[in-house]
Amino acid sequence: MDRRGRRAALILALALSAPASAQTLQAQRWMAKGADPRVLTRLPAECLAKPANAEAALSAEIGRAAFRTPTLLGGQAARAGLSCDSCHRNGRDNPHFHFPGISGAPGTADVTASLFSAHRGDGTFNPRPIPDLGGPKEKLRPQDGPALKTFIHGLIVEEFDGHEPPARVLDGLVTYVRDLRTCGNASTRLGASDYISDALRAVRAAVQALDRGDAPTAELLISGARARLGLIAERYPNNADVTVRLLAADRELSSIREAVHAGDRAAARARLQAWIAASPRWRRSARQAEPKSLFHPALLAAAGGD
Ligand code: HEC
Repeated sequence: MDRRGRRAALILALALSAPASAQTLQAQRWMAKGADPRVLTRLPAECLAKPANAEAALSAEIGRAAFRTPTLLGGQAARAGLSCDSCHRNGRDNPHFHFPGISGAPGTADVTASLFSAHRGDGTFNPRPIPDLGGPKEKLRPQDGPALKTFIHGLIVEEFDGHEPPARVLDGLVTYVRDLRTCGNASTRLGASDYISDALRAVRAAVQALDRGDAPTAELLISGARARLGLIAERYPNNADVTVRLLAADRELSSIREAVHAGDRAAARARLQAWIAASPRWRRSARQAEPKSLFHPALLAAAGGD
């Protein structure tokens, strides 16, 4: 299979997995059948090097949010909700990742078969363990020079059929990946506040991108925030109060994104600030209802979904 063939296989596998009938959470689409869903209530710790200055900090924030944004990847991958973070949870690994046609054993995926070897596009199905991008760094590809940038660019545009990413987004991904560090095997309980904080960080980075006149980056980051709201909402399947509030917050982001796209940067910036200021409304209700949500391991297990 050549590169195009592999891409078609990936898209097909994603499309086949899309009807989520038996599954409770989106991420269960990329877990082996029968796997314990409670693994989706924990996350490996994310550790980042301290940024050298404010610009480096912004770059890492943009990269961090883009890393969690499905629309960075193209087509069916984006529609299925897959992002870099689906395989590299919190920039680390994912021993539970299992995708028919993409994975061999759980925790592996075949994403680079023809990336560095167009001349060798021989169709070998060669799933590799998903690496911990935190390191140890000497086990990873060289992190300086253009190699990492070329690699990430190839992943997005070639393997995942994504659009050409804005320059700030690509640079941000390189900064984020480079800044990731190992911090042992510590894992933490995943809670609503993790996704809430991801969404707010993405929106704050979008404001800063607008300040730099970078509308395409802001648009992508707003999409990333919306995807995080979706991951919160799916944990409250029976709570109309929380989901209605989240839906309203999501609609407003969608409308702001259109304003950015239409070139209305000043108004969009003001609306993003207002969105942040109004966020305690949905944040509070999500947090209050969290003990009865699918962030709770026992409730998630009881919700079934295999
Ligand atoms: C479907 C799962 C999957 C997704 C999605 C994914 N990766 Fe990976 N990634 C892998 C696997 C598997 C490897 C190992 C490939 C290899 O060794 O050839 C890898 C390797 C890498 C590496 C190289 C690690 C090294 O050896 O230095 C980087 C950097 C990376 N991914 C970043 C990303 C970024 C950024 C994204 C999103 C644009 C992303 N990945 C999306 C599975 C995934």
